[in-house]
Amino acid sequence: MAKLGLTAIGGGALALVAMVATATTLARAEVDDPEKVDPWFDRLSHAKRKTTRLHFYFHDTFSGKSPTAVRVAEAAMTNKSPTLFGAVIMIDDPLTEGPDPEPPLVGRAQGFYGSVGLKSMTLLMDMNLVFTSPKYNDSTLSILGRNPALKTYRELPIVGGTGVFQLASGIATAKTYFLNLTTGDAVVEYNVIARHY
Ligand SMILES: *[C@@H]1O[C@H](CO)[C@@H](O)[C@H](O)[C@H]1NC(C)=O
Ligand SMILES: *[C@@H]1O[C@H](CO)[C@@H](O)[C@H](O)[C@H]1NC(C)=O
Repeated sequence: MAKLGLTAIGGGALALVAMVATATTLARAEVDDPEKVDPWFDRLSHAKRKTTRLHFYFHDTFSGKSPTAVRVAEAAMTNKSPTLFGAVIMIDDPLTEGPDPEPPLVGRAQGFYGSVGLKSMTLLMDMNLVFTSPKYNDSTLSILGRNPALKTYRELPIVGGTGVFQLASGIATAKTYFLNLTTGDAVVEYNVIARHY
C-alpha cells in the first residue's frame, strides 16, 4: 500500500515523496528444493521489484577458426531468398563490456535465431543471456522476440530470468555496431533494462 510522506530535501524545500510502507526486499528463491519455491512465491505480493540496467556488446562470429554462430538449418529456397528466409543460426556468442572482443567476458548469448521475413530482413530471436560477471554469475535473462535487423534500434522483450533475475521482465534494445556483409560477422550493442525480484 503506497503512503505519502513529507520529506525535507536540499535547502529546506519540502517535497512529497511516495513511500511504499509494506514492500520488502526478497532474497532470491532457492531452487535446489522445489518446496522452497512455493513459500517464496507466496511472499511475492509484498516484495519490492528491483530494476537492473545492463550494457554490453554481443559478438556474432561466423568466420575464422572458432565461429560462435553456425547455420544449422535452411530451406531449399533459403540461398535464393534476399532475406535468407528459412535459415536457422545456433549461437554461443560472447558478451563483452566494450565493443572489442577481448576478455573479460560478461557472459554469453546461447540460443538461436532464424530468418522469418520473406520480404524484409526480420529475425526471430530466442536466446538466453548467461552472465558470468561476479555480481550476476550464472543468472540468466531470456529474450524471445522479433528483430527487424536493418532498423537502427530493435526492441526485444525480456520474457523471464533465473538466479538474480528471477521472474524478470524488461526491454532489450539492440543496435548494430559493426557488420561484415561478406562473412555475416556482427557486433551488436545491447542496452537492457529489467525488473525482477
Ligand atoms: C561463477 O560460478 C561458477 C560455478 O557455477 C564458478 O566456477 C566461477 O568461479 C564463478 N565465477 C565468478 C566470477 O564468480
Ligand atoms: C569482411 O570479411 C572479409 C573476409 O574475411 C574481409 O576480406 C573484409 O575485409 C571484411 N570487411 C570488413 C569491413 O571488415
